[in-house]
Amino acid sequence: MTQRHADQVVLITGAGRGIGAATARLLAERAAAVGVFDIDEGLAKATAAAIVQIGGRAIPLVADAADRSQVMQAAKTLADAFGPLTGVVNDAIWIRYGPIEDVTDDVLGRMFDVGIKGAFWGVQALLAYKGDAPAAVVNITSPVSEVGSAGTSSYTAVKGAIASITRQLAVELGPKGLRVNAVTPGAVPTPGARAIVDEAGYEKRKAQTPLGRLGSEEEIAAAIAYLLSEDASFVTGTILRADGGITVKSV
Ligand SMILES: NC(=O)c1ccc[n+]([C@@H]2O[C@H](COP(=O)([O-])OP(=O)(O)OC[C@H]3O[C@@H](n4cnc5c(N)ncnc54)[C@H](O)[C@@H]3O)[C@@H](O)[C@H]2O)c1
Repeated sequence: MTQRHADQVVLITGAGRGIGAATARLLAERAAAVGVFDIDEGLAKATAAAIVQIGGRAIPLVADAADRSQVMQAAKTLADAFGPLTGVVNDAIWIRYGPIEDVTDDVLGRMFDVGIKGAFWGVQALLAYKGDAPAAVVNITSPVSEVGSAGTSSYTAVKGAIASITRQLAVELGPKGLRVNAVTPGAVPTPGARAIVDEAGYEKRKAQTPLGRLGSEEEIAAAIAYLLSEDASFVTGTILRADGGITVKSV
């Protein structure tokens, strides 16, 4: 176990599975204490327990990222357990794809609530429960925040907003000692992604990716960990693509 993230206390939303869980595992392996925040109790508890079993520091935080009071309470629980927060990873997402004609008020509302409001509450929770040490926010965007993809209008709206507030909050919070960055994952076959992308869709994504393959959860976690680390101490307002080049490929 390296000590690279020693003294860090990081709240990770959506950490029960997928990229969030891989991030929790990696940070804990590197000596951070992590709050495994997920709306799914079984996933949150299993991921946190697996970390503790290998000697890491983690607690499950079962809560809804869309609910401000639940996010604040979770941050308090994490700070009570391990000390002031030094970081938040706003990873939780609720996604429905479909043509613009089919987007309903309910679907758009839930996507915005989890994806956009959730990120606001994550940042507020960090501000409320951080100490005097430098602190960092990592948001998660998507290639669709930069390039068009049919059938993803509501998801694009969420991730475009996240990209914008990443830059804006870097400016607003830099004077308070907070760095705010984001990671853009490419195509990563997480449980959530597999539910909305079929095999043909993954073949298309591989062909579109200059590196010729899908990404792993661990490769995205490594980019997130970098932005939380001391190595990134002068990095803020940056959106780091860990996408195999899919976003920049034309033909
Ligand atoms: N997987 C990809 O290919 C890909 C590509 C680009 C961006 N992303 C982004 O990466 C992030 C993680 O995606 P993933 O593929 O690991 O997803 P996933 O669906 O596998 O995991 C998401 C987790 O979030 C939890 N969650 C959902 N709603 C929640 C809520 N309201 N409160 C708390 N937790 C909640 C789920 O229970 C789940 O454990 C997301 O922001 C996603 O948009 C993923």
